Amino acid sequence: ESESPGDLRTPIVAVLGHVDHGKTSLLDEIRGSAVIDGEAGAITQHIGATAVPLDVVSEVAGSLVDPTEFDLPGLLFIDTPGHHSFSTLRSRGGALADIAVLVVDVNDGFQPQTEEAIRILKDTGTPFVVAANKVDTIPGWNPTENAPIKQTYEAQTDRVRSQLDEKLYELIGELSGAGFSSDLYWRVQDFQANIGVIPVSAMTGEGVPDLLTVLMGLAQRYMKSEMEVNIDGPGAGTVLEVKDEQGFGKTLDVILYDGTVRKGDTIVVGAKNQPIVTEVRALLKPRELAEIRTEKRFEDVPEMQAAAGLKIAAPDLDDAMAGAPVRVVGDRDVATVVEEVEAE
Ligand code: GTP
Ligand code: MG
Repeated sequence: ESESPGDLRTPIVAVLGHVDHGKTSLLDEIRGSAVIDGEAGAITQHIGATAVPLDVVSEVAGSLVDPTEFDLPGLLFIDTPGHHSFSTLRSRGGALADIAVLVVDVNDGFQPQTEEAIRILKDTGTPFVVAANKVDTIPGWNPTENAPIKQTYEAQTDRVRSQLDEKLYELIGELSGAGFSSDLYWRVQDFQANIGVIPVSAMTGEGVPDLLTVLMGLAQRYMKSEMEVNIDGPGAGTVLEVKDEQGFGKTLDVILYDGTVRKGDTIVVGAKNQPIVTEVRALLKPRELAEIRTEKRFEDVPEMQAAAGLKIAAPDLDDAMAGAPVRVVGDRDVATVVEEVEAE
C-alpha cells in the first residue's frame, strides 16, 4: 500500500479519445487486468477511475523512470467513453483532469470525438500528450512485448518504420490543423509549448513505459505546485454514479479531487432538488489498480485523501445525481456549503 498522507495530491489524468481507439485497453495494459472484457459490447458507458501508485508506474516504466526523481504519489487515471452519445461524461472527465492523454488510433487518425476531446482540452486549458495507439497493426510489425518505443521502433524493417512515420506525421499534421504544435515526444523539450506524441500499443504494451514516463515527468515538472494543496482540508469531489450496494443502500462513486473525507463527516451532495446534507457512514476504497466502475471488493477505511476514486455510503442519497458536487462541510457553516453546492 503506498499512500502518502499529508503531502502532495495525486494528479488526475483523463484518458480521452474517439470510440474504439483503445482508451480502456491502454488502462487495462497499465492495470494488468481486463476491464474491457466486462463492458457491454466493449463500449465504455461510464467514467471510471483507477489509482496507479508510484511503485507500479516505475515498474511498468522500467529503466525509463528513476523513482527517486518523483515525489508525487502516483497517478489517478480517469477513463471516459468515446461513443458520441456520452459528450457530457467527456466534458466532466476533462474538467476533472490535471493532465490528459488523447488516444488516437494511428490508422484512423482524427475522428469526430478526437476533435471534440481537443475542444474540451482547449477550453479547460488542460495540458495533454497524444498516445498514437495500435502501432502493432502496421503490416509487418514485429512486436517486443512491453518494450520502450525507440527500442521496438529500431527493431522494425525500414518499410514498417516508414509506414509508421507516415501515419505519425499525418497525426502531427492534424494536431497542427487543430492549433497545436506537436512532435514525437523524444524531440520535445518543453511539453507545455509542444504536444508530445507517443507511439504505443495497448495490445503488446510497446510504448506504454514511455507514456507513463512522460505523464509522470509532465505532472512532476509542471503540476507539482498545483499538487501542493492542503490535502488535509475539507474534501471536494464529483459524483460519478449513484449505485445500490448490498448492505449500504444507495452509495456514491466519487472522484475526490481535493482535500480529505473522513467517516462521520457531514457532507453536502448536489441533488435533483435541494442539496442533500448527510453524514458519511462508510468510506469504501477500491483495491489498488482496481477500476471503481467494475470493482466488487472494497475496503472500509476511516479516511481518504485526494485525488482518489472512492465509494461513499451515507443515508438519504436517493435523489443524488451523477455529475453533482460533493463537499465536506468541515468547520464551515452548513448553509454556506449548501449555497456553494447550489451555485455549481
Ligand atoms: P470506448 O470506451 O467505447 O470509447 O472505446 P475505447 O477507446 O476504450 O477502446 P477499447 O479499449 O475498448 O478498444 C477497442 C478495440 O480496439 C478492442 O477490440 C481492442 O482490443 C482494440 N485495441 C485497443 N488497443 C489496441 C492496440 O493497441 N492494438 C490492437 N491491435 N488492437 C487494439
Ligand atoms: Mg473504453
